[in-house]
Amino acid sequence: MTISDHGARHVAIIMDGNGRWAKKRLLPRVAGHKAGVEAVRTIVRAAGDLGLEAMTLYAFSSENWKRPEEEVSDLMGLMKRFILSDLDEFAANDVKLKVIGNWRALAPDVVALIDNALERTAGNKRTTLAVALNYGAQDELVRAASAAAAQGDITAEAIEANLDTADMPPLDLLIRTSGEVRLSNFLLWQSAYAELYFTDKLWPDFTPADLKAALDQFARRDRRYGGL
Ligand code: FPP
Repeated sequence: MTISDHGARHVAIIMDGNGRWAKKRLLPRVAGHKAGVEAVRTIVRAAGDLGLEAMTLYAFSSENWKRPEEEVSDLMGLMKRFILSDLDEFAANDVKLKVIGNWRALAPDVVALIDNALERTAGNKRTTLAVALNYGAQDELVRAASAAAAQGDITAEAIEANLDTADMPPLDLLIRTSGEVRLSNFLLWQSAYAELYFTDKLWPDFTPADLKAALDQFARRDRRYGGL
């Protein structure tokens, strides 16, 4: 297992600011989301190069259904195209895809596409890319606590073992772009001891150098987990 100099194994990102990026350029919001997908590609490649074992990206929250129908359908279309067109790239970069959230409730064609991509990338080992789709942390916690109760024991360990991220390394660093400073129902349990990093950069402008800067800052933080 490679643990790089920065010491982080798992980084999560709230990719915010696509709409504002497009607005600044007088473009439709979908153009911002398209640029956001490009940033995803670059950052996933960089994650592997920077020695990260896992990266979790907030692509579509359970609250994003409140957006106009056209934007929801644009986002789903982009997601489908991303998964289809990047399967070869995942193979080339040894990226294992994972999807968290209530994704089985999505349209049947999306579910089939994801199932296929999960199967095709299951043997890849370098980096796990977890995409949060129809994800809400409160929903995840309700599902995990119910599963723990059904197994007979609601302990922290049992809840953790039933989270969507159960097979991933602990979350080290949570990044949010675009200057907003909140968690928006993302990885609430996993963030208990994660370091938080906020940047004003809009998601489509976020580069591997920005990820490196976040990891450099992470490496300088003093993580005490409630101790001294
Ligand atoms: C937030 O920007 C971004 C989203 C709600 C969607 C994020 C999705 C992508 C980057 C593309 C698809 C992802 C993958 C993994 C292929 P916003 O629209 O809320 O921006 P604003 O706050 O400036 O309006």
